[in-house]
Amino acid sequence: MTTRRTVVTLDGPAGSGKTVCGQGAALRLDATFVSSGLCYRAVTYLAMRDGAAPSDAAAVARAAERLRIEFVTAPGAVRVLVGGEDLTAVLKEPEVTAQTRHAAENPRVRELIGRHLRRMAEERDIVAEGRDMGTVVFADAPFKFFLDADLACRAARRRKELAALGIDIPEERLQAEIAARDLRDATRELCPLRVPEDAVVIDTGELSVEDVVDRIVRIVRGDGD
Ligand code: DC
Repeated sequence: MTTRRTVVTLDGPAGSGKTVCGQGAALRLDATFVSSGLCYRAVTYLAMRDGAAPSDAAAVARAAERLRIEFVTAPGAVRVLVGGEDLTAVLKEPEVTAQTRHAAENPRVRELIGRHLRRMAEERDIVAEGRDMGTVVFADAPFKFFLDADLACRAARRRKELAALGIDIPEERLQAEIAARDLRDATRELCPLRVPEDAVVIDTGELSVEDVVDRIVRIVRGDGD
């Protein structure tokens, strides 16, 4: 008999806190945190490292076919290993961020990453973050959350995160970039960003990470709303 694994999905726009809160919830729930955003970034980076243009659909699909990605769920920031190599910092670089839209809009890449994530979920309990986790990849997940916060707050968070990696980008530029990505994510044909019908929506703007994690954990454990 196979035991059904727990899947918790966290969707939302850039900077809404999906990664930090997802990692925190995964630690408390003894689950593995998986980031689909980092999968799309990794595919982009691998294709670029091979000398391909990130807009080369076939090259990006080949990179997705050979993707081997592991997420380290341990206290502290999320770490990601691609083919055994720690690419945590490099995948957050502005160049990768700007070019990842090609992988995200590639149907073959979406199919492969979706399949990869579902395979992970067969082996362990997972907390999965992204744009289409609760709507497409894990449409039947028992626990779905949608995190959101206003644009200024999300840009300020992204700025802090990048500063910790030694990357300094003015807040106005980040706001403009995030607004452009929001629009792209929400209006694209393939798996657009949407609030899943059965998701709990959390505005993370006024809440601490601990508060958001607490709320998620209480709901998953069945002792909160
Ligand atoms: O959340 P992030 O910034 O790491 O996401 C990187 C890019 O990948 C972003 O442009 C949106 C896209 N993405 C997606 O299309 N679907 C997902 N499930 C996750 C991310």
